[in-house]
Amino acid sequence: MAAFESQPFVLRWGVISTGWIASVFVKDLLVDPKTRNVQDVVHEVIAVGSRSVESANKFIQEHAPGNPNIRAYGTYNEVYADPNVTAIYIGTPHTMHYENARDALLAGKHVLCEKATTSNAVELRDLLKLAKQKNLFFMEAMWTRFQPIAAEVKRIAEEGSLGLPVVLHADLSGDFDIENIPKTHRILDPKLGGGALLDLGPYPMIWAVLALYEHPTNKKARPTSITGSILKTPLTGVDRSTVFTLNFTEHLEAQAILSCSINLPAPIPGVTIRYRNGNILIQPPIYRPLSFTVQYFDKPGSGTVVREETKKFSHAGGGWFYEADEVARCIRDGRLESETWGHDKSLLLMDVFDEVRKQGGYELPEGVEKLKG
Ligand SMILES: NC(=O)c1ccc[n+]([C@@H]2O[C@H](COP(=O)([O-])OP(=O)(O)OC[C@H]3O[C@@H](n4cnc5c(N)ncnc54)[C@H](OP(=O)(O)O)[C@@H]3O)[C@@H](O)[C@H]2O)c1
Repeated sequence: MAAFESQPFVLRWGVISTGWIASVFVKDLLVDPKTRNVQDVVHEVIAVGSRSVESANKFIQEHAPGNPNIRAYGTYNEVYADPNVTAIYIGTPHTMHYENARDALLAGKHVLCEKATTSNAVELRDLLKLAKQKNLFFMEAMWTRFQPIAAEVKRIAEEGSLGLPVVLHADLSGDFDIENIPKTHRILDPKLGGGALLDLGPYPMIWAVLALYEHPTNKKARPTSITGSILKTPLTGVDRSTVFTLNFTEHLEAQAILSCSINLPAPIPGVTIRYRNGNILIQPPIYRPLSFTVQYFDKPGSGTVVREETKKFSHAGGGWFYEADEVARCIRDGRLESETWGHDKSLLLMDVFDEVRKQGGYELPEGVEKLKG
């Protein structure tokens, strides 16, 4: 290999917002990729944008100490306009994503956008169209799908000995102490897309997508039916607990039973994928699981476990750097979307969330959705 080919590709990031997720993402960007055996890409944080320059400066001091060259901006637009920035990371609340991602794309930047990607599927379709027109990369920050454990679950799920999937149960719940936090907290505020579905729902969905939608027998057929039931909190009217189901019947005969709540701890296991010949049990937290167990039955349908294997994982950081590595490789290779978490999957999630909100009667306040179907 020629010397220049062995140089890692450097992705230069601009970070939008200074909240919790932006802080952990930036910390992960600054972890040396060699600690996870990655040699081909590295990350540089070039700029941080906030609605206040003081907050941007404080964020850099706290979360990227020893990096005096990172620029602090008091507007997001200055980050989009910075010629040294190649990719924008968007960590604002869900209902800001459409506007932020649109501004970034219009300024010619590639985008990694937090989940839920937008307030609704119409907004996402518009963003994806714009990204294609501008020849820019766009990806939902579905970090769980890029963790090595997800690849291993997929390998076992598809290698054949468990047979075809029949039912998947997945729940992500978290206790946000909703009686005691301000009603303006993003998890309670309908103007910020509050509630369980848009915040926690993407995680049960990623496992349904991995085990059912991505299963080779399913041939990427979308669910043939979706049901949703929402229980709202009287505090602000956002969904406190949501249950939704997906049927995959075009090529599989499989069902996903998914749920999320903002006033409960996560159940154990967090995901159970049930096959005729055994189960895969994934331990919480299902956004970053560190172990899963595969159970094999003595004969199909018996439920008698004759062999059980637990696989454990660990990493030197938060685990967000795997999605960042994917973004870097895609941009380096001139790809407009990830093969692992492509636009089809983000659209599937938003279409499901729209349908569940419709069936559950959860409408966002007037003006929150910038585009509506
Ligand atoms: N992938 C994951 O593991 C993960 C985990 C948690 C959250 N998330 C996602 O990340 C997003 C942000 O969540 P978070 O927990 O980081 O929220 P957060 O701590 O409240 O931070 C959100 C930031 O967005 C900016 N912002 C812009 N307009 C805002 C407004 N009207 N109200 C409040 N903040 C506003 C603020 O930064 P400035 O003041 O600097 O502008 C704020 O600090 C959500 O979409 C969430 O779903 C992802």
